[in-house]
Amino acid sequence: MITPVRYEDDRLMILDQTLLPGEERYIEIKTKEDIWKAINKLQVRGAPAIGVAAAYGVYRAVRDLETENFSDFAREFHWAKEYIATARPTAVNLFWALERMEKKLLALEDGLCFEPSWNQELDYIKEELRKEADAIRSEDEAACLAMGEYGLSLLKKGMGILTHCNAGTLATAKYGTCLAPIYLGQERGYEFKVFADETRPLLQGARLTSWELSQAGVDVTLICDNMAASVMKKGWIDAVVVGCDRMAANGDGANKIGTSQVAILAKEYGIPFYMFVPVSTIDLSTPTGDQITIEERRGGEIYEMWYQKPMAPAGIKTYNPSFDVTDHQYITAVVTEKGIVYPPYTENLRKVIEQK
Ligand code: MRU
Repeated sequence: MITPVRYEDDRLMILDQTLLPGEERYIEIKTKEDIWKAINKLQVRGAPAIGVAAAYGVYRAVRDLETENFSDFAREFHWAKEYIATARPTAVNLFWALERMEKKLLALEDGLCFEPSWNQELDYIKEELRKEADAIRSEDEAACLAMGEYGLSLLKKGMGILTHCNAGTLATAKYGTCLAPIYLGQERGYEFKVFADETRPLLQGARLTSWELSQAGVDVTLICDNMAASVMKKGWIDAVVVGCDRMAANGDGANKIGTSQVAILAKEYGIPFYMFVPVSTIDLSTPTGDQITIEERRGGEIYEMWYQKPMAPAGIKTYNPSFDVTDHQYITAVVTEKGIVYPPYTENLRKVIEQK
């Protein structure tokens, strides 16, 4: 299975997802500017994968740094962390992973004895930071597998499943969040029929979801975003599965633009709507979806990015929010790696986070 973020032989490599499905090319990340660009341009994307990439990225940005003492190193690390955090605003995993890396660094200070030399201490610190990034990656992989099992328990053989955007292996360390049960089902003979929304304007459904699922031999049908109601009405959809970029304390979930309209349609047609949300994506400090910052991207993504010539009059006004918030009332259940959470979300999300 393809891995979007690799740290191998002391090199941080990222699969450039902007080139998919035409070309599978890894780019090397060496500096804080490289990782900022990779996240901002969506060369790496999907909330958990952004978190993993940021953790390795901040480590890589300071890996070759030589300083006189701990506080100089910590200051440089902090600047790199703050800079990388500005790459994209919505996926909470970016901030979560960077905070976790800094917390690790600051905790290391207490254990330092500055013997036999600061240089050796510095090597030790760097090694521990890399191990923390490794842990973030392997925990995400394990979380995806666990979400896969919980998710599969909600699905039945032969079901038609609609998904929006890409919350698959390309969006995580491995397996995906909402696509993990599809992969497990594929291994166990569930014979799902997946419908992938193309996901305008950046086409994550067309370029990424339909690519990774068809590579795995899953029966996947690509549809335009405006066809979701039509396939639901025909009775082809038994469940909707989507990922999440940030879930507020009340269960409102920000995900790729268009998710919210799919959730509203699903409710209208009596189809369960499952949002897959690793604990690292739940942000209890954000009370409701209204407080989630929604990234706005350039209008050209709508009318010129995939076309040979502009598909709108010159100078047209655009509005291009990258995410929307699905109100918790439309979410049938939230699948986490610690279990399936049902309403009332304000109470039950907190419980699942506190659970060991
Ligand atoms: O803009 P993107 O491609 O980073 O948006 C990705 C999504 O909206 C995903 O559904 C979400 O990050 C969950 S990924 C497991």
